[in-house]
Amino acid sequence: MRVPIIIDTDPGQDDAVALLLALASPEELDVLGITTVAGNVPLELTTRNSLMMVELAGRSDVPVYAGCDRPMVRPLVTAEYVHGKTGIDGADTPDPTTSPADGHAVDFIIETARSTPGLTVCTLGPLTNLGTALQQAPDIAGSIEQLVLMGGGFFEGGNTTPAAEFNIYDDPDAADIVFRSGIDLVMMPLDVTHKALTSDPRVDAFKELGNASGAATAGMLEFFERYDMERYGTAGAPLHDPTVIAYLLEPDIFGGRACSVAIETTSELTMGMTVVDWWGLTDAEPNCLVMNEIDDERFYQLLIERIGRLP
Ligand code: RIB
Ligand code: CA
Repeated sequence: MRVPIIIDTDPGQDDAVALLLALASPEELDVLGITTVAGNVPLELTTRNSLMMVELAGRSDVPVYAGCDRPMVRPLVTAEYVHGKTGIDGADTPDPTTSPADGHAVDFIIETARSTPGLTVCTLGPLTNLGTALQQAPDIAGSIEQLVLMGGGFFEGGNTTPAAEFNIYDDPDAADIVFRSGIDLVMMPLDVTHKALTSDPRVDAFKELGNASGAATAGMLEFFERYDMERYGTAGAPLHDPTVIAYLLEPDIFGGRACSVAIETTSELTMGMTVVDWWGLTDAEPNCLVMNEIDDERFYQLLIERIGRLP
């Protein structure tokens, strides 16, 4: 049974690898569209980068819709210090020859949610597009089957402030709308992504695929990993966003717990913190399946095998 999905993204090297994984899996995933959002780099670049990945994968049948160019309330914070000026430094792939689809990403999300039974939304960046769509069309909360998102952290804390992870920190107001929406949520926080580290053998395996997608993936990871390796003193970097797509393909790679999760939107000290009631200390109903375990060997085997299927 092919799962109809929308991927909302802010490429970013890890987003780009997640897009390649999804586009390499047409038997399992019916990618109805990619929606772009400002995050790691400004919207023009996240849109350009998404088009480049669609073309690299030979999947220009998948439309790319440009979305929100800033968070719902707060100013845009970008992350060129991690991803480089282009957002996908290291990819060394040709400029896009295609253009974004007509229409705004938020309208595409609303229309698709209302017309597609069983729709799964995958968010890889700030939740601005989905939060705006829910604000404009609250009814879609009842139409979206599931949201699988990369974002947040609890025992791992944050990576943008001590308390907050980038995707949630960048637009905490949108995240608050999403986490209160009642949509069936699966969250891939830093607690799981920091257990999926790149390594030289893993990067070499992409190079050894001998295809353009493998070479681009290796180049992007070699650029992307340097920041986290320096920051955390680890031998590799957490490969965040592909965990979202891997969950759809092989959910038993992951382990976690249904928890209540709330978003800090008032204190500047902890702005964007995902407050996860992991030990059930409150009477708040669980609203999210929070992942904190991953079989990282299987994760990378899946990534390498699927990206090996691409041009
Ligand atoms: O904190 C990691 C997340 O922020 C990833 O999605 C990365 O691409 C950045 O958007
Ligand atoms: Ca991202």
